[in-house]
Amino acid sequence: MENLVKNLNYLLSDLNVFYRKLQNYHWNIKGKDFFEMHVRLEEYYDEINDEIDELAEHILMLNFEPLGTMKDYLENTCIKEAKNEKIDTCQVVNNVITDYNTLLKKVKEIKEEADNNSEYKTSSLMDNYISSYMKHLWMLNQMNMK
Ligand SMILES: [Fe+2]
Repeated sequence: MENLVKNLNYLLSDLNVFYRKLQNYHWNIKGKDFFEMHVRLEEYYDEINDEIDELAEHILMLNFEPLGTMKDYLENTCIKEAKNEKIDTCQVVNNVITDYNTLLKKVKEIKEEADNNSEYKTSSLMDNYISSYMKHLWMLNQMNMK
C-alpha cells in the first residue's frame, strides 16, 4: 500500500507540473491554429486541475498525506517544465502528446499495482484517467502533421 501511495504522489506531482505547463502554453502559444489550441489548452488544464483535487482527496481517503508544495512537486515529477518564451503550435502539440503519453503509461502502471493490491477505488480512478488521456492523444495525433 505504501508503494502505491508513493506512486499516487508521483502522479500528483506530474499533474501539478503539467497544469502549470499547459497554462504556460496557453499564454505563450503562437502560430497556426492559435485560436483553437489556445482554447483547447484551457480545457486541458481545467480538467487536470479537477484531477489534482480528486487525486489528493483520494490519497487522504486512503489515510495518507498528499504532497502539497511546489518544491515537492518539482522534486517528484518526470514532466519537464515549459520555458517563459513564445512557442509554436506544432511544438506545443508534440510536447503535449509526449506528456499525455508519459501520464498514460504511469496511470496504467498504477492501475496494475492497484489491482494486484485489491485497491478497487484507485483502480477505477485510473480507468477515468486512462480514458481521458487516450481520447486527448487520439485527437492531438490527428492534428499532428509530422
Ligand atoms: Fe486565458
